[in-house]
Amino acid sequence: MDTLQAPLQPLADNLESETYELFETDPVKYARYQDAILLFLKDRLAQGRAAPFVVMVLGAGRGPLVEAALKAAQRAEVEVQLYAVEKNPNAVHALRHRKRRDGWDCVEVMPGDMRTWTAPKKADVIVSELLGSFGDNELSPECLDGAQRFLAADGVCIPTSYTAVLTPVSAPGLWADARQGAAGGGLADLETAYVVYLHHAFFPCSAFKDCFHYQHPNWEGKSNDRCANLDFEIEVDSLVHGFAGFFDCVLYGTERISIHPETFSVGMFSWFPMFFPLHHPQYLTKGSVVRSHWWRRHDAHKVWYEWAISEPAPTKVQNLGGRSWPIGLL
Ligand SMILES: C[S@@+](CC[C@H](N)C(=O)[O-])C[C@H]1O[C@@H](n2cnc3c(N)ncnc32)[C@H](O)[C@@H]1O
Repeated sequence: MDTLQAPLQPLADNLESETYELFETDPVKYARYQDAILLFLKDRLAQGRAAPFVVMVLGAGRGPLVEAALKAAQRAEVEVQLYAVEKNPNAVHALRHRKRRDGWDCVEVMPGDMRTWTAPKKADVIVSELLGSFGDNELSPECLDGAQRFLAADGVCIPTSYTAVLTPVSAPGLWADARQGAAGGGLADLETAYVVYLHHAFFPCSAFKDCFHYQHPNWEGKSNDRCANLDFEIEVDSLVHGFAGFFDCVLYGTERISIHPETFSVGMFSWFPMFFPLHHPQYLTKGSVVRSHWWRRHDAHKVWYEWAISEPAPTKVQNLGGRSWPIGLL
């Protein structure tokens, strides 16, 4: 609780085995994926389509989504041909071991980056979990755009969409911890968002507002840069220290996973909220409106967020050009 963590960068870094192990104990996430894949397979069968269906799990880690897909196929009583693509060599090793141990005969383990991997055929469905606490902050949009060239024209992505959501937060302890060097000292400390289980935090506005939305596949090649202006009416006099970020994700049809407080997937613990600090806390009175501005931008090497407030008093743009918190694309 209230411990600031730097967000993971699973694209630029290779995750540790312990990190995968922790993910894999989530009692909700993989069950929701299994139900979503099952729904997809049933829809395909209802359309009169013939198995085997080609399922590609992209960013397979040590295999929990492969297992979810195999269980879904078993429940739907259909044959699938499954490709598990993973760029982390240690996870690939674990996947190969699991294939041998669990007799995953219909699974091919494919080492490589999904953005450049040469697929042997087109996929009926691409299954991935590349989400961060703020939805797109682990670069799911860039990875899936790079992979959709091997998705069949009528293919489906699971997840099909996700939305990043924000609300102002009063959290003096978290802000003080951030300022005291959580990101290594200096300017960067208050220009980095942190993953944190919020405990001593108060939301002075009851509204959660949608910030950035992504849908897959992105056949029109729409840019993944985004810009949003969000107004929040303050309901209680408060010192606002920043914003709390969450995501809500549609896996397929009615199946979703969410850490949005209003649609939270009860029991799921793979993600904590994100805290975006302000350089200077703002004292805001009841009835005042805080106008916030959010950008998601990129260059050849990185993606980054910038944020600022223009009302009631303007602030400088934080993390300008990704100077403090770049999210690596390479
Ligand atoms: C958040 S983890 C999820 C792992 C696993 N699916 C699970 O649910 O436990 C994301 C995985 O995607 C992999 N990954 C990220 N970007 C990738 C890319 N461009 N190509 C292949 N794998 C990628 C990471 O190495 C990591 O194993």
